[in-house]
Amino acid sequence: MAIRIHKSLLLAVLLAAAPVVQATDLAPFLDYNGDQLFQRFCASCHGKFGYGDGPVAPAIKVLIPDLTQLSKRSGGRFPADRVREIIDGRAVLPAHGTRPMPVWGYELEAQVPEDQPSRAAAQGLIDRLVDYLSSIQR
Ligand code: HEC
Repeated sequence: MAIRIHKSLLLAVLLAAAPVVQATDLAPFLDYNGDQLFQRFCASCHGKFGYGDGPVAPAIKVLIPDLTQLSKRSGGRFPADRVREIIDGRAVLPAHGTRPMPVWGYELEAQVPEDQPSRAAAQGLIDRLVDYLSSIQR
């Protein structure tokens, strides 16, 4: 009996630790360009043009930063590495949720290194988002 309980516990732990993202989860978005990805995952808060005025903004207690000012605010150079870390969840922003459960609903970084297709898919989406943000700097 004790062993049976132990096994189901172990299973629960394993399931909880399983990678959330499969390449197939991201499949609907693989053809999206950076703008489309931004509109789909980010504009609800950051606004259509990244100004921080999305429809959800009034409901959020913290100020939503203007994403067209990222370069200006880091001395004129687009902070690509930091932006990438923010999107993939390495840099934790409370308003963005956690890495396995980001507010946009998909973990954009497969946690299992061997899962190459998922990783490549997620990386591709992040690259497009980073490039897009870089392109809207003012
Ligand atoms: C639920 C609302 C929400 C969504 C959705 C959201 N963000 Fe944010 N974002 C915020 C808030 C609020 C901040 C301010 C930082 C904080 O305190 O968490 C922020 C901060 C940032 C920053 C840092 C800006 C700075 O000045 O340092 C970047 C970059 C960013 N978001 C990119 C994105 C991208 C790309 C997406 C889509 C993949 C996205 N965000 C989706 C609310 C959101």
